Amino acid sequence: DWTSDVFIDATVEELRNKLGDDKVVMGLSGGVDSSVAATLIHRAIGANLYCVFVDNGLLRKNEFEEVLHSYKDMGLNVIGVDAKQRFYDALAGVSDPELKRKAIGNAFIEVFDLEANKIDGVKWLGQGTIYPDVIESISVKGPSATIKSHHNVGGLPDFMKLSVVEPLNTLFKDEVREVGRALEIPETIVGRHPFPGPGLAIRILGDITAEKVKTLQEVDYIFIQGLKDHGLYDQVWQAGAILLPIQSVGVMGDERTYEKVVALRAVGSVDGMTADWIHLPYEFLGKMSNEIINRVKGVNRVVYDISSKPPATIEWE
Ligand code: XMP
Repeated sequence: DWTSDVFIDATVEELRNKLGDDKVVMGLSGGVDSSVAATLIHRAIGANLYCVFVDNGLLRKNEFEEVLHSYKDMGLNVIGVDAKQRFYDALAGVSDPELKRKAIGNAFIEVFDLEANKIDGVKWLGQGTIYPDVIESISVKGPSATIKSHHNVGGLPDFMKLSVVEPLNTLFKDEVREVGRALEIPETIVGRHPFPGPGLAIRILGDITAEKVKTLQEVDYIFIQGLKDHGLYDQVWQAGAILLPIQSVGVMGDERTYEKVVALRAVGSVDGMTADWIHLPYEFLGKMSNEIINRVKGVNRVVYDISSKPPATIEWE
């Protein structure tokens, strides 16, 4: 029978044998998978694990500072890298979803490689790959792999020459969460919704600017905080806001406005492969709409996405 305690003991033992006195470098994302993987490796080899957390300028509001703080509290040896401008430069004028992913993936590899090269004699790359990621990357002929190039798996550039260690690659998300709780990782990390590697870049349709990121961060913050305050966050697999590349006419006082439209999205799912839109209470949606339009400058309309996957996908890009 699978229990998280048995898994933890066996995995830490296995990691100790495999890694010995070697050094491991690992990119953290703030998500549950990389955090749990890092904690297991840290249990096994302690200070020989070097973590890198990159601020790509596409994270949620305050996320970089908050998560970096949690990591330090957890005793992880983590280097925070502010690379916002590098990512914005790489994304300037890029509208195509796949080109955005490529630009972000390449910028990440450059930044990460720079940090990894500072660690003398590092041999391993730690990754938070979970079982569904493995399946998704094996079924290259399957539709999802060709529709969107998720770069969680196989993103290792040749020149890094590191061996990969992936302690979670047999687990499903709910098992990862169970392990995370048994490891006493804070609930703010363990219970966190999945968030795509390219972050808000694939929730800003069209090209990315720092200003659009800021607008979307404010909208997303109100929505996510609202879900938490109304006890809805844990009933949702994933939620977020999308900034649409159109403007709509509105009225404010006796002025005509012509401003941005945002879509809210909240889905239920088990593994992200299929998903249903969540029937959030109308009252809650109304409240969110009012708060967003009143508080976020430049937004005058909010819509709610009622599409399921398939045939839609969770993200709009
Ligand atoms: P879709 O939009 O394909 O999303 O239904 C399924 C799950 O994958 C996440 N997603 C990504 N994650 N890099 C990632 O690391 C990506 O490029 C990417 N695209 C989508 C999405 O947020 C959802 O959880």
